[in-house]
Amino acid sequence: MPRAEFISTGFYVPERVVTNDELRQWWDTSDQWIRERTGIKQRYWVEPGKQGGSDLALEATRMALERADMDASELDCIIYATLSPDYFFPGSGVYLQRKLGVFGIPALDIRNQCTGFLYGLAVADAWIRTRQYRRILLVGAEVHSTGLDFGPAGRDLGVLFGDGAGVAILGPTDADDRGVLSTHLFADGRYAELLWCESDASARFPRISHQDLDEGRQYARMQGREVFKHAVARMMESVLAALGAHGLGPGDVDLLIAHQANLRINEVVQRQLDLRDDRVYNNIDRYGNTTAATIPIAIDECVQSGRLRRGTLLVLTAFGSGFTWGSALVRW
Ligand code: COA
Repeated sequence: MPRAEFISTGFYVPERVVTNDELRQWWDTSDQWIRERTGIKQRYWVEPGKQGGSDLALEATRMALERADMDASELDCIIYATLSPDYFFPGSGVYLQRKLGVFGIPALDIRNQCTGFLYGLAVADAWIRTRQYRRILLVGAEVHSTGLDFGPAGRDLGVLFGDGAGVAILGPTDADDRGVLSTHLFADGRYAELLWCESDASARFPRISHQDLDEGRQYARMQGREVFKHAVARMMESVLAALGAHGLGPGDVDLLIAHQANLRINEVVQRQLDLRDDRVYNNIDRYGNTTAATIPIAIDECVQSGRLRRGTLLVLTAFGSGFTWGSALVRW
């Protein structure tokens, strides 16, 4: 049975850099607070209304196709992970497909927030192993900046998020020394409302009201401290589960790429796994939290800088709204 391997990667962020200091025009915050609590120094935001997530994904896909020396017509399938779709429906996968001009191939949308790329990777890996599809475009793309609460209640979440897209093209390999070794996915819906966006919603009637808008129910809300604690514990557990499934331990890890929600979360995970600085990669200082895009953006940067090389044992892990979380083990 073949495994999935990464054929190529790419990413794209909008041109507009937004520094922590600039955020002070909307929120009572400071560069020092944001750096100390989160590690974020800047993020990229779209020009409002000019670019949707699928536009960012298109640029990232073009980069990955060029590097793979492939044409979009060679893709068999699109898997698109996002919590900020261009529209409520249809899913963003079809918009990206239309922009790529490859009609007919399936486009699956994944709604697992910060863990979306890993859920998508698990699906792509299964489809490649079973020979259902040979060339899968896996996307994580977000536009958060147009959905932030610029009022006082939005301060805690508003400073965290950035826009961006990262993609991977996956294909089969028969080599037994590389590829996706396994994926490990988890969820616990008991905590759904600790990080969520309440409206508009088909579970409510009306789906959205003027009162909802006045009360800010259209914005994401988070109980940050609770989420922080769970993020550390669940990512740790799932990394150990992924390594344990192969009789490996933290000492075998060449590179850990964790979801970029808060540098402090990743520092605790690094400490608990006892990993040296050269065994982990973080880029949240430059991009903020780009949700489903954080892992593919980080992977692409590691490929381009040479930190990911043939033979590297890579561990990916993520945690987010749902709660959902998971890990993947990849021999590059
Ligand atoms: N600027 C300045 N002060 C802020 C602020 C901001 N942007 N956001 C919150 N504060 C204030 C709070 O009002 C509070 O003030 P008080 O002590 O006077 O009440 C104080 O800072 C501490 O708030 P708290 O929410 O306890 O901060 P924290 O240390 O937990 O950091 C997060 C907040 C959001 C950075 C942190 O909780 C976090 O990263 N959580 C997890 C995020 C995550 O993993 N998400 C999952 C994937 S998206």
